[in-house]
Amino acid sequence: MTAAALPAPAAPPAREPEPLLSATDLTVTFGLGSSIAARLRHEARVLRAVDGVDLEIRRGEALALVGESGSGKSTLARALTGLVPLAKGEIRFDGRVLPARRKHSDQRRIQMVFQDPYSSLNPRLTVGSMLAELLRVHHVVPRSEVGSFSRELLGLVGLGEDALPAYPRQFSGGQRQRVAIARALALRPDILLADEPVSALDVSVQATILNLLRDLRAELGLTLMLISHNLAVVRHLCDRVAVMYLGRIIEVAPTETLFSNPQHPYTRGLLAAIPKLSTAGDEGAPAIAGDPPSPLRIPAGCRFRTRCPIAEARCEQEDPALRISADDSSHSAACHFAFSAAGAPAAG
Ligand SMILES: Nc1ncnc2c1ncn2[C@@H]1O[C@H](COP(=O)(O)OP(=O)(O)OP(=O)(O)O)[C@@H](O)[C@H]1O
Ligand SMILES: [Mg+2]
Repeated sequence: MTAAALPAPAAPPAREPEPLLSATDLTVTFGLGSSIAARLRHEARVLRAVDGVDLEIRRGEALALVGESGSGKSTLARALTGLVPLAKGEIRFDGRVLPARRKHSDQRRIQMVFQDPYSSLNPRLTVGSMLAELLRVHHVVPRSEVGSFSRELLGLVGLGEDALPAYPRQFSGGQRQRVAIARALALRPDILLADEPVSALDVSVQATILNLLRDLRAELGLTLMLISHNLAVVRHLCDRVAVMYLGRIIEVAPTETLFSNPQHPYTRGLLAAIPKLSTAGDEGAPAIAGDPPSPLRIPAGCRFRTRCPIAEARCEQEDPALRISADDSSHSAACHFAFSAAGAPAAG
């Protein structure tokens, strides 16, 4: 075929704006002690907690990160925040690759809220001195405005200025998490990574803290990554969901697509385990058969194959890449049978 016979190139597809934060092949390992017993068992002594993650977080969105305990969610969030070093891979933020040692100005813009607000607050500092120190060290506002800015921050999270002279121990769990959120917001971050921010709290205050995050997002234009075990919360709060299994993202989709048309057998298992409130006594099906393998011994081929109801010989040989659906560019899954009739769940 001559060049003249080639069809005219199609107009380039409308490009998505560059993501605010993205990870490419992000890998985090932990070296474990080399006990004689471990050596005798020929066990690997390097644990791959995050193992080649590709993920994009767009400006202004709320992205959920879900997956069983030990799948690497917290480690991924900590790596994005710069709290643990990368073994491999790259993090881009606002159009630039972040170096291993981040500048203060970049650290400030990516903040994390932890599960246990008590351990993340200094017990010896009052809320006022904690905020003042932070604002001064990071030059967030001129000295003369530290007081008024602190009061404004507390107002944003629903606390009055009487919180300023109080110590963390004087607050209830929910109030402490409000203080922790105020502290994260003090640095005027672009993105907040919230790691199970309500799972340590009393059920009665969980919703108020989640609603606070939702309102702050709307009010401040924050980008949010929410790690949660509670898929109902995720559905309520998040625009997209990324599903993690054994250190890797195995499915990503807009929230409603993920719930209505999950493609990875692991995602289907997680969704099947949600208790159905409408059916009395229905506790939800058991999540997924068996326990996840140890991240010290990640199965060859597809890492989910040892628990997968549709695994075939091919799954032992080939590690499926996170592949975009031909019909829906917002939906990706890492399963050989995704987006095909072969991967569809059996009827009934
Ligand atoms: N500092 C560490 N040293 C050694 N192993 C670690 C360390 N931190 C995490 N791990 C291991 O890395 C894996 C991933 O842990 P991580 O805490 O990221 O999982 P998670 O998805 O957040 O789990 P959970 O839902 O229980 O919070 C686990 O096997 C865990 O034991
Ligand atoms: Mg965790």
